[in-house]
Amino acid sequence: MEPKKYLSDIHLGNYTEQYETRYATADTMLFDAGRKQELLNGAWNYAVDAYDTCLRQKWFKERYVDEQGFSLPVDYSFDQWETMQLPASWNTVSREFLLYDGSMVFTRKFSYEANSADEEVYLKIGAANYLCRVFLNGEYVGMHRGGSTPAYWNITELLKPSNRILIAVDSTRRPEQVPTENTDWFNYGGVYRDIALIRVPKLHIQNFRIALAPDGTFHHITAKVALSQPVHETAVLSIPELGIQQDIALENGVGEVTLDAAPELWTPESPKLYDVEVTCGKDMVHDRVGFREIRVQGTEILLNGKPLFLRGISCHEESVTHGKALTDEERIENIRLAKELGCNFMRIAHYPHHENMAKLADEMGLLLWEEIPVYWAIRFTREKTYQDAENQLRELINRDWNRASVIVWSVGNENADSDERLAFMSGLANRAHAEDPTRLVSAACLVDAEENRIKDRLEQYLDVIGVNEYCGWYTPDFNKLPELMINSAPTKPVIITEFGADALKGYHGTTSDKGTEEYQVHVYEQQIETLRKISYVKGMTPWILYDFRCPRRTGVLQKYYNRKGLLSEDKTYKKPAFYVLQKFYHELEKEGR
Ligand code: GCU
Repeated sequence: MEPKKYLSDIHLGNYTEQYETRYATADTMLFDAGRKQELLNGAWNYAVDAYDTCLRQKWFKERYVDEQGFSLPVDYSFDQWETMQLPASWNTVSREFLLYDGSMVFTRKFSYEANSADEEVYLKIGAANYLCRVFLNGEYVGMHRGGSTPAYWNITELLKPSNRILIAVDSTRRPEQVPTENTDWFNYGGVYRDIALIRVPKLHIQNFRIALAPDGTFHHITAKVALSQPVHETAVLSIPELGIQQDIALENGVGEVTLDAAPELWTPESPKLYDVEVTCGKDMVHDRVGFREIRVQGTEILLNGKPLFLRGISCHEESVTHGKALTDEERIENIRLAKELGCNFMRIAHYPHHENMAKLADEMGLLLWEEIPVYWAIRFTREKTYQDAENQLRELINRDWNRASVIVWSVGNENADSDERLAFMSGLANRAHAEDPTRLVSAACLVDAEENRIKDRLEQYLDVIGVNEYCGWYTPDFNKLPELMINSAPTKPVIITEFGADALKGYHGTTSDKGTEEYQVHVYEQQIETLRKISYVKGMTPWILYDFRCPRRTGVLQKYYNRKGLLSEDKTYKKPAFYVLQKFYHELEKEGR
């Protein structure tokens, strides 16, 4: 017999099924560069909802009386709950939440008044880790899967003069998710990037992509526009500094144009950006765009036709104080430190960082490797897991398409070879190529340990081969590295995407004592001495710029931190190995590489 209505939440086993609709995906994103974002950041009332009672009992409906008018007992007090300043990684908000993986519910009120009759309004959540379900004025708005990419919903129909929004975030790590429940970084939960309302005219620019055509001439700019409706319209592209004012005919809401132009080319040393504007009807968007070309030729990587060596470093999106909710000041500091190290390149691992990272890299001059968290033992046989991974990839590509600094889309990290893994990741690599013919596609691959060779079936789908090798650390016998290099004969450029060693700041010993600064220096010296001689190695992003939180690291020198950083976790202390790498990079710069 059907349990009585008010008992349903107790007996409804699969309570999440009813929310598996209205997904925010790459296809529902709004191009928002240059648009006014009315931030809903600030004090939100919240509760720790360890049993997902909000979703089970549908708190968002706020049923305070029954059909007969009798008052009902409720298990929440939205406006009397404590408040948390959003965006935030809740783990860094208070000690009691440091290790909390699970659900929290956030709510606040806001007023709304339309500025024009045909206005539409999008809700944007910059990122929430990992499942995010949104409710507005008692109605279910939709959900987003993925802990590092933005979600947009058109909420026009649900808005009232006075509104209550409610966001239920579930940071639980699960084997079927991307990443799985097992990673080597800290699982920060929460709504940790901006929450905003974005107003647009009913007919608006849904997507805008612009880049230098990768045809080796550096004289052709391709621009694509997609509208919110399949109508015949004309958009106008203007780049005043290039004297460009160009109509783009849109058939069924889409159109593209390739123009002759001679832009000053963007490089890390000279990061020239142009003001770009697109108007259509009553809508207008604006972006700051650099024009550059990245290509591979044999084992060379060519930036604007010139071979280059990617002097890089890896970096997590991590702050002692803010978790993943970095401030722009912290992002600027990370880029500044990389440039002080002599870098022209950064691998921002292992998931999409905040969009401002690429915008700041555009402005400050730093090439970027961006990555989706297809990390270690993903459920490669599960179709929904593939859809989740592919959607995160497409959301990242869509979000950062116009960023000159981004030159590599990485489809994963350290995934053991199998037929299922090959199918899954080659699918992602093909998708990345299909979405974006202007950038390189790669992955951080494992070495074939049996043959001690760079050999991965995924290579044929990649433009550049990323290789993680820890000779001198996880592979103690350092002679394995020269052998590895001799045994390998890659036909594509190789980037050593990880090497390194733990060192606790200020901990000293001999070059045989693991965990000391001396040992880390020794590993860097040996790695550099070997790698600098290998002609097909065209870059490196040693692991990692600074120490980062990691629940897997419980050693006396680690204390829940991965200590492979070249700086301490608060970035106030440079370990001696920082200067070893800096010396090498400055030598390369002098050689013009
Ligand atoms: C792996 C992995 C990193 C990890 C590092 C380490 O290669 O890609 O995410 O932190 O090694 O073990 O320190």
